[in-house]
Amino acid sequence: MAADSPAISPPSPARGTLRRLGILGSGAGTNLTAIADECRAGNLAGEIVLVLSDVSHSGILERARERSLPCRYIAPGKYRSKLEESAERRFIAQLAEAGVDWVVLAGFMRIVRSEFLKAFPDRIVNIHPSLLPSFPGLNAPAQALESGVKVTGTTVHLVDQGIDTGAIIAQEPVRVEEGDTSETLHERIKQVENGLYPRVLHELITGRFRIVGRRVVRVAASERPAL
Ligand code: GRF
Repeated sequence: MAADSPAISPPSPARGTLRRLGILGSGAGTNLTAIADECRAGNLAGEIVLVLSDVSHSGILERARERSLPCRYIAPGKYRSKLEESAERRFIAQLAEAGVDWVVLAGFMRIVRSEFLKAFPDRIVNIHPSLLPSFPGLNAPAQALESGVKVTGTTVHLVDQGIDTGAIIAQEPVRVEEGDTSETLHERIKQVENGLYPRVLHELITGRFRIVGRRVVRVAASERPAL
């Protein structure tokens, strides 16, 4: 990333244009639902143009169908934690064909590799259920419980070639309660995520942030692109 780059914003959006969002997920789809609701309410300057999943019977595809959002299952291929190359090409092609400005990972359980990053440079965003850099990777709420921390939370970050290592955009804490299981803790984290992700996405896609080294910082109002 550039040491001090201009505002992160979509490639030349026309004034007033909604940014085109492609959402990728493997799970229940609560974050998709929250994002879709805020787009519909006019609080998020985006339009979901495609939902893709690597899991054929995932909740996220059901939620997308209920809302009549264009959606598709793409078979991930033979690996567990990444997409097979041909599958990755299919994901990229579908997103490019739909003309997405931003790729939004919402519970997508596979690593995206360099071809993906090259196709959407600094345009892929993820939400992770811990306060990164603590507890990256799988089962973050279980990792938090095992470590004995009293506070964990959620992080919205740009995606880079590492596992949950990209520049951090926003974080919110969630207390660990006595008697929590990884499920009850994750449930409370997701409730926080469902409020945070749409808000941060709105700010991100409307050019409110820029990257300075490893840090994502707010752009002064006078420097912001016209909406
Ligand atoms: C969220 O906790 C997110 O942080 C993680 O996967 C979960 C997805 O939940 N990456 P949902 O499918 O949006 O309900």
